[in-house]
Amino acid sequence: MKKHQYEVIIVGGGGAGLMAALYASRSASTAVLSKLYPTRSHTGAAQGGVGAALGSSEEDHPEWHTFDTVKGSDYLGDQDSIEFMCEEAVPAIYELEHMGLPFDRTPDGKISQRPFGGHTNNITKKPVRRAAHAADRTGHMILQTLYQQCIKNQVKFFDEFHVVDVLVENGVTAGVVAIELATGEFHIFHAKSVIIATGGHGRIWEITSNAYAYTGDGLAITLRRGIPAEDMEFFQFHPTGIYKMGILITEGVRGEGGVLINGQGERFMERYAPTVKDLASRDVISRAMYIEMSEGRGINGKNYLYMDVRPEVVNKYAAIDGRKRSDGRPYEVTGEEILGKLPDIIDFCQTYLGVDPIMQPMPVQPTAHYAMGGIPTNMYGEVVIDENNTVLPGLYAAGEVACVSVHGANRLGTNSLLDLVVFGKYSGLKAAEYARGVDFPVLPPDAGDFARQQFDRIRNASGKERAVDIASEMKKVMFDHVGVFRVDAGMRTALAKVRELRERYLEVSVMDKGKLFNTEILNTWELGNLLELAEVTTVSALARTESRGAHARDDYPKRNDQDWLKHTLAWMRNGEIELRYKPVVLTKYEPKERVY
Ligand code: FUM
Repeated sequence: MKKHQYEVIIVGGGGAGLMAALYASRSASTAVLSKLYPTRSHTGAAQGGVGAALGSSEEDHPEWHTFDTVKGSDYLGDQDSIEFMCEEAVPAIYELEHMGLPFDRTPDGKISQRPFGGHTNNITKKPVRRAAHAADRTGHMILQTLYQQCIKNQVKFFDEFHVVDVLVENGVTAGVVAIELATGEFHIFHAKSVIIATGGHGRIWEITSNAYAYTGDGLAITLRRGIPAEDMEFFQFHPTGIYKMGILITEGVRGEGGVLINGQGERFMERYAPTVKDLASRDVISRAMYIEMSEGRGINGKNYLYMDVRPEVVNKYAAIDGRKRSDGRPYEVTGEEILGKLPDIIDFCQTYLGVDPIMQPMPVQPTAHYAMGGIPTNMYGEVVIDENNTVLPGLYAAGEVACVSVHGANRLGTNSLLDLVVFGKYSGLKAAEYARGVDFPVLPPDAGDFARQQFDRIRNASGKERAVDIASEMKKVMFDHVGVFRVDAGMRTALAKVRELRERYLEVSVMDKGKLFNTEILNTWELGNLLELAEVTTVSALARTESRGAHARDDYPKRNDQDWLKHTLAWMRNGEIELRYKPVVLTKYEPKERVY
């Protein structure tokens, strides 16, 4: 196997990986390995904004941002990390601005901000403009800006190198194993520090906003190496995915005054969240949508609702809500203004639905969107491997794959981009600092064997199963039973099915046995990752007998702080899942009932 050596290896070329690379490369030899070209990473799909209490056009404070995030997390987020992230948010956004990120501007030249769900003025309880945005392409702009900076800093990129194992020798991280897509060759990357920044695993579910690449690779490879996964039962469903396709319609649409409408023409969120209405947190809105649809108030009785941003509708409800522009004038918009603020959304709807949102409402349904759980880390991105927060030397994680935990049981919109910028930076800094203090670790003599065995098995299997069938059965059962609402019996059905699928997965054979650009084998390996994570998600969800944030159980409808104010840790040991728990870090905010 070909060998490479870098002090810091970053796995994943999305926003977290690039921010980590930028900071690590200032003082350590650094390489980024990405299964995609970095500018095609899923960060590019984040649309509406990045959260920071800049106060561009109204009063705001990092402390309000902190409280909103704690409340949004349904009190499961670790409050020390949340406070750190919200304080760091303000300088982080100005840093991106100074790198050249083309944020939209207020008339007086400041970074423009729009309201987003769950972000409030803590005194009036009304929505506050906290989402700094570049039209509805904020993630795309972050990705492009950071990539340019990394190129300027001479970060070495290995594009289309698919990382399939992390090496740990004598309790210390030693590097990773990757397959080069073009040749099918395995490569060993020997490193002092490894930062996992591979994103989420939303492809487990049938309707999802997630890219095809979101197959949980980083989390699956660390699980196989004995590292636990934290809070896997908490997976966010974004309220507004394009009906049947799941493609994201940004919450920024509601930030610009759009409203959700049911089949009876009602703005139903008034009943579920009387103060902030369509700008409640995502878990609250997704549940309200399910209730509307299940009680027969979907559009034409079907399982979708309307997201309406037609100017006459926006202006009508803005007048009812008493919404004002930042200069105090009434909030009134034209079609042209909406087009200027939401160009991609309008384009997606025209392309995929033949619907022009300036003239027609958009058919939407909740879509699997974001993993609150992931590889456990502390606030410096160091991976922690047990309930005592013991650090695994040399291993870091950042972005959606990591669980710091700043999102707890439910993430607020715009905090994902913020998370990856802040924790990408600190994991990069820490990884380089650690690398400066140690020699290269010993490489295990059999470094590539574990990964090679997995791929040999897939290549040589001769069973009758097809990966595509197993994937669609997994997606359906997880969407039906481990989705927005859950009950014991449904989750048991899902668990039995996923276990059956894991057995049948061993019988999957591939038609392409070759080495060059063999995406069939790689996709089959990715399916194995999704199946393992689906099982961990379901086992973690079954065990949590309460409702909290995105984990809503009809059979246990109440939050139970006495028994469940704790994080789940799940290990995969010899094919069995073991669950243990660790406490939530509380600092200033005692858990309270959430009212929006
Ligand atoms: O709705 C959105 O634009 C998504 C943003 C996010 O997930 O933070």
